[in-house]
Amino acid sequence: MISSSVALTDVPLALTFFGREFALYRGDSGKVVLMDAFCPHMGTHIAKNTTSYVVIDGQIEGDSIRCPYHAWRFGPDGKCNDIPYHDGPIPEAACIKTWPVQERYGCIYMWHDPEGGEPDYDLPDLPEWASPEWVNWEIDELGELVSHPLEIIDNIVDISHLGPIHGSTLEYFENEFRGHIAIQRQGGGHKTLVSGDALLETDTWYTGPGILLSRVTGLYDAIMYITHTPVQDGVVRAWHGLMVRPGGAQPTEADIVQSRQYQEASKLAFLQDFEVWSAKQPAFQILQLKGDGPYHKARQWYGQFYHPREDAAAIHKQVDGTYTVKWMPAAPQAVAAAGKY
Ligand code: FES
Ligand SMILES: [Fe+2]
Repeated sequence: MISSSVALTDVPLALTFFGREFALYRGDSGKVVLMDAFCPHMGTHIAKNTTSYVVIDGQIEGDSIRCPYHAWRFGPDGKCNDIPYHDGPIPEAACIKTWPVQERYGCIYMWHDPEGGEPDYDLPDLPEWASPEWVNWEIDELGELVSHPLEIIDNIVDISHLGPIHGSTLEYFENEFRGHIAIQRQGGGHKTLVSGDALLETDTWYTGPGILLSRVTGLYDAIMYITHTPVQDGVVRAWHGLMVRPGGAQPTEADIVQSRQYQEASKLAFLQDFEVWSAKQPAFQILQLKGDGPYHKARQWYGQFYHPREDAAAIHKQVDGTYTVKWMPAAPQAVAAAGKY
């Protein structure tokens, strides 16, 4: 994820991810376009200007965008399609690299591939988003975190932090890896997200390295969303959301208010992890005990997104499977069988 949909107004956004600068804008047709930030003419940042008359008069024309400096205009394919003071053919090199983007679930996603390939898996499928029974999330901007994304990934297998950090009283826990998907199934009591002896059950999965969803059964049925994207080495940016099914055919005003409160409680639970990450040293090596979750497998799994694509199959061979720890039962079979990822 690189932006929420609401953050992308009619003003282009200057973004930094993967150590690279981008310009993100929405064309008049609604199309979202992501391109490298710098103009091939003289290197101007396309999306970091407020005083040029190009910007004051409106930089976006149809689905094209004009550079603030000399008003060259670039189409959604990145090709320059107008230079106001030049007749004759526009040079081929007058082109900015564009990146594949998709807008879904109130979010904008890019496919960042150093090998230049097309996406080799889809965004997660979330049929609940279109269902009238659900109150959809409004994305929380969690900002930047000075941490390596690996520290966040460790969380998917981190059974032994659930009690100390989140106040869970676990009853079952297991992990499974399947290709580009990493799954955690757990159930237990929880101090803030359920009341009394009720069980909070979560079926949580990563689709690729940055998008985490969790089907939650507790006070309400809910779907938690946490996404993080590397900004540069040692910095990530994160977002959070929570969809809730209050129980009726159509949520009432009161249901919506309550759903927002539930999202807030979910965010606070996640920020308990955030506080640790924001102040910890990097754990290049974990002093891993048998009772800890399978960090080594999670990290191997994560490695597939940082190696040449042709190595992925070998990594899957080493990692795919289900993992449990001795001191905690595995997920009930019915829970595992019900998973949709
Ligand atoms: S630098 Fe962009 S048009 Fe000149
Ligand atoms: Fe956590």
